[in-house]
Amino acid sequence: MSLRPQRITARPRSPFDRIGGRAAVASLVGRFYDRMDGNPAYRDLRAIHADDLDPMRERLTDFLVGWMGGPRDWFDRNPGACIMSAHAAMPGIDRRTAEQWIGCMEEAMEDVAARDPALARALLDSMRSMSLSMAKRAAAGAEPGQP
Ligand code: HEM
Repeated sequence: MSLRPQRITARPRSPFDRIGGRAAVASLVGRFYDRMDGNPAYRDLRAIHADDLDPMRERLTDFLVGWMGGPRDWFDRNPGACIMSAHAAMPGIDRRTAEQWIGCMEEAMEDVAARDPALARALLDSMRSMSLSMAKRAAAGAEPGQP
């Protein structure tokens, strides 16, 4: 038996692998937009989206796949794009729509939370802080005197 220390070669699994790959991300996104569309609690958030949510089902899936460590097609298609700056240019981003986005994603994530609570918590924490920063940035941009 060798007493030499073993080199650890296994890399930690990415959130993309842990959640179950592209099909699992697509189903999370599906639940997110189904709830946004069907639950009046998310009315303000729904109102700032296009009537047809199908393109967003594709785009958010592609984004989250890359963001979670999977294939980076969305990032390759949008070189240099920053998701925070993209939202700074969108009308209707404020504290209320940010809270609705988070609430809607928390509901959509219930499935993931049942299987892997630590993963669901980590994803929701990041998404919450991004959403609140988007709202803060929009509020700062809307202050009088800002260019
Ligand atoms: C303050 C919370 C948020 C609000 C109110 C919001 C709202 C929106 C709206 C209105 C659109 C355009 C929809 C359309 O064209 O129909 C959009 C696009 C998008 N959002 Fe958000 N969003 C929020 C947070 C987030 C977060 C946290 C993420 C990522 C984790 C995200 C990822 C995206 C992506 C990937 C797109 C599409 C970009 C593209 O490929 O063109 N959003 N969002």
